[in-house]
Amino acid sequence: MKADVLLGLQWGDEGKGKIVDVLTPKYNVIARFQGGPNAGHSLKFGNISHVLHTIPSGIFHEDKINLIGNGVVIDPVVLKKEIDKLTEMGVDVSKNLFISKKAHLILPTHKLIDAASEQAKGKTKIGSTLKGIGPTYMDKTGRNGLRVGDTLQDTFLQQYDKLVQKHKQILSFYNFEYDLEPLQEEWMKSIDFLRQLNLIDSEHAVNKYLNENKSVLAEGAQGTLLDIDFGSYPYVTSSNTITAGACTGLGIAPNKIGEVFGIFKAYCTRVGNGPFPTELLDETGEQIRKAGHEFGATTGRPRRCGWLDLPALKYAIMINGVTQLIMTKADVLGEFDTIKVCTHYEINGEKIDYMPYDLVNVEVKPIYKELPGWKADLTQMHSADELPQALHHYIEYLENELKVPVTIVSVGPDRSQTIIREKSLV
Ligand code: GDP
Ligand code: IMO
Ligand code: MG
Repeated sequence: MKADVLLGLQWGDEGKGKIVDVLTPKYNVIARFQGGPNAGHSLKFGNISHVLHTIPSGIFHEDKINLIGNGVVIDPVVLKKEIDKLTEMGVDVSKNLFISKKAHLILPTHKLIDAASEQAKGKTKIGSTLKGIGPTYMDKTGRNGLRVGDTLQDTFLQQYDKLVQKHKQILSFYNFEYDLEPLQEEWMKSIDFLRQLNLIDSEHAVNKYLNENKSVLAEGAQGTLLDIDFGSYPYVTSSNTITAGACTGLGIAPNKIGEVFGIFKAYCTRVGNGPFPTELLDETGEQIRKAGHEFGATTGRPRRCGWLDLPALKYAIMINGVTQLIMTKADVLGEFDTIKVCTHYEINGEKIDYMPYDLVNVEVKPIYKELPGWKADLTQMHSADELPQALHHYIEYLENELKVPVTIVSVGPDRSQTIIREKSLV
């Protein structure tokens, strides 16, 4: 059996959590492969609205295995809070949540360094979620990090102290005040809690599942345009958010990847700083933000909004080897007379239809095609033939440009507000 991957094609928040939850019944295993509590994946069904940060979005289906892979960075304090909340809701994670011993730990000092570094950058700050992601991945690649499996070793406290000493030195370079004591106390308590969970050799487990013909869905966090290598560097996150990240973040060989579901909003959003060619700083942007409730699921920050960007989307499809597209939030554009799609960028008078090396230091003028709006409330529609003609036209236009079928259209945040366009493919 091959593992399927679902990941974001934009700057995150494309609706990954919702769609993973919708697809979970078709899979045995849902596995997160990168990122950490910078992610906020929202799920909605019945009267439950819930945001997950570290735990895979299959957790509400009790017979499914949920796995946090080696590529993920874990803040045990956040993880404990997430589990406590789920327990209160009657979800028992003791049998179906598994955590890689090779996943790296976010220390309280990683969060402090994240905050100190952002403060020092001033105007050029990344707009990090301040969850300690960058500093933790830096220690991972710098070969100084602490891993979940280390918590089971007698030397754990010494290892912890050694790393914290290093962090204190780093912090002394910044003009940054902090009180580590209370943070450390809570962290250590959460480590005791973490030790009681199912800590496993996840790469062996995932390959065993695949060999036993169990179906695996790898759940991405963030989005392709925030990828450390291919995103709008340096305004990116610190992990590989792309399909290749599912290989390294779970231990799945590239030839064992099956379908790649690329998810995108019918428009674009971005939280934090960095280039955003189609950003709308006007009434229209405000209208999209309002209609789409575009506020961060992790930080509550307003999301920047703009029109769909085809050069960026084509790039993301290429990097990820997307086999199926999923379009979310089509309902949000229900009141517009016309809808714009960026087909090209104009840079220094030159018209291009691909992602250039640099978006940060150049002025990019988006060139738009205008399509008719569908002017309809989609939120109560349940099948593809109910969808308005203008929306079919919009989707067919995109399919034609992107050369990949749109198999799912999401028309609201609830599980039930999901339209399968091509049943044979999903
Ligand atoms: P993720 O990080 O990719 O999982 O996405 P987020 O959960 O951060 O943000 C997506 C937001 O849009 C959440 O509030 C979802 O409940 C909501 N959402 C998802 N799909 C749809 C949709 O098709 N229509 C509308 N209106 N909201 C959606
Ligand atoms: P999900 O999984 C949207 C953004 C931050 C910032 C940049 C770096 O919910 O789609 P970091 O804390 O990773 O160092 O921040 O990346 N960012 C996200 N934006 N959705 C996310 O996750 C994000 N995770 C990080 O806003 O610009
Ligand atoms: Mg999110």
